[in-house]
Amino acid sequence: TRTIKLAVIPGDGIGPEVIEQANRVLDAVLAESDVTLERTEFKLGAERFLATGDTLPAVEQAAIAEHDAILFGAVGGVPGDPRLKAANIERGLLLKLRFDFDHYANVRPCTLFPGVTSTLANPGNVDFLVVREGTEGPYAGNGGSLRTGTPHEVATEVSVNTAYGVERVVRYAFETAQARPRKKLTWVHKTNVLVHAGSIWQRVVAAVAAEYPEIAVDYMHVDAATIFMVQDPSRFDVIVTDNLFGDILTDLAGAIGGGIGLAASGNINPDGTFPSMFEPVHGSAPDIAGQQKADPTAAILSAAIMLDHLGLTTEASRVRDAVRADLAERGAAARSTAQIGDSVIAQLPAPAHAAIA
Ligand code: NAD
Ligand code: IPM
Ligand code: MN
Repeated sequence: TRTIKLAVIPGDGIGPEVIEQANRVLDAVLAESDVTLERTEFKLGAERFLATGDTLPAVEQAAIAEHDAILFGAVGGVPGDPRLKAANIERGLLLKLRFDFDHYANVRPCTLFPGVTSTLANPGNVDFLVVREGTEGPYAGNGGSLRTGTPHEVATEVSVNTAYGVERVVRYAFETAQARPRKKLTWVHKTNVLVHAGSIWQRVVAAVAAEYPEIAVDYMHVDAATIFMVQDPSRFDVIVTDNLFGDILTDLAGAIGGGIGLAASGNINPDGTFPSMFEPVHGSAPDIAGQQKADPTAAILSAAIMLDHLGLTTEASRVRDAVRADLAERGAAARSTAQIGDSVIAQLPAPAHAAIA
């Protein structure tokens, strides 16, 4: 038997509601396997901050680091809550984990499953994956303010792009594209304006592309990429882009793939030095929290990405098959968070047992 140490951070708002269902699905899919999940729950997020003043205490971060993977719900309070102004839970917790655990490949698949209604009238074949850089760019926190509160205030958020950081995520994206049937990679930037960062990205992509002659590479400016994503998403296979462009493109991708309640992600540390972290793309959704209205599918599909990452590829496929079956028969009927969890569990294909010799 194999024991997997799983750190669970349910977080705020709908985070705990969707993570509960993801955990149920994980238990169900692993029930007859020789894999045991050993879970530790970490109560972190806006609620914890309001109760204790803690964002991510060093001892807890060190404890999380001892796990094989992290399952993360969502954090954040009601936008504009003045009590959270000093905290910045998003930076101090979520981004801190991504940066400190070197989650440089943030993978966000976008698949329009059969039976799911896209926001697009004629979406065509939607099956692409965004590899968003996770440790650099404008998210690096490299900025500051001068003359704060005066009419001459100046604020900067300087995007950080290192040759090392760009190359490793670009390489990851090429490897990902190589493993997919269409073997296409689109890199997205804004090289016409952001010339310095754009130049690193352009040279790195050209150099790495030379090692992957089978992959068709194209480039789009990020503004144009939003047009193409809406007009003809079928042209995308793997997209690689920087941290901020990737954030924006993946919410758009979420809408195209049938809604943010279905959009899953993995924050991957491919080197395996730190635990990777799996989370729905959506936030804590204070507008529907506590009402069992949240769709847990994004969290469940994030758990499937985690299973893949842990090498449990058959289990990951069974979860995805169950989600596909649930979505296909879902229709317009409103169901609770737990009912969707029930349905996915009910649709789980039986494990294939080894033939008896
Ligand atoms: P949000 O993703 O929380 O919500 C946007 C809209 O989508 C809302 O109308 C919400 O009801 C809906 N929605 C989101 N998830 C859903 C689901 N699973 N099922 C059905 N509907 C769903 O984004 P927001 O409102 O901009 O942010 C709310 C808080 O969450 C903020 O504090 C923000 O900083 C934080 N946030 C956290 C994360 C994260 O933890 N990864 C991501 C994004 C936003
Ligand atoms: C996401 C979120 C986060 C991001 C925020 C909450 C820090 O929007 O996971 O997409 O910008 O990366
Ligand atoms: Mn986002």
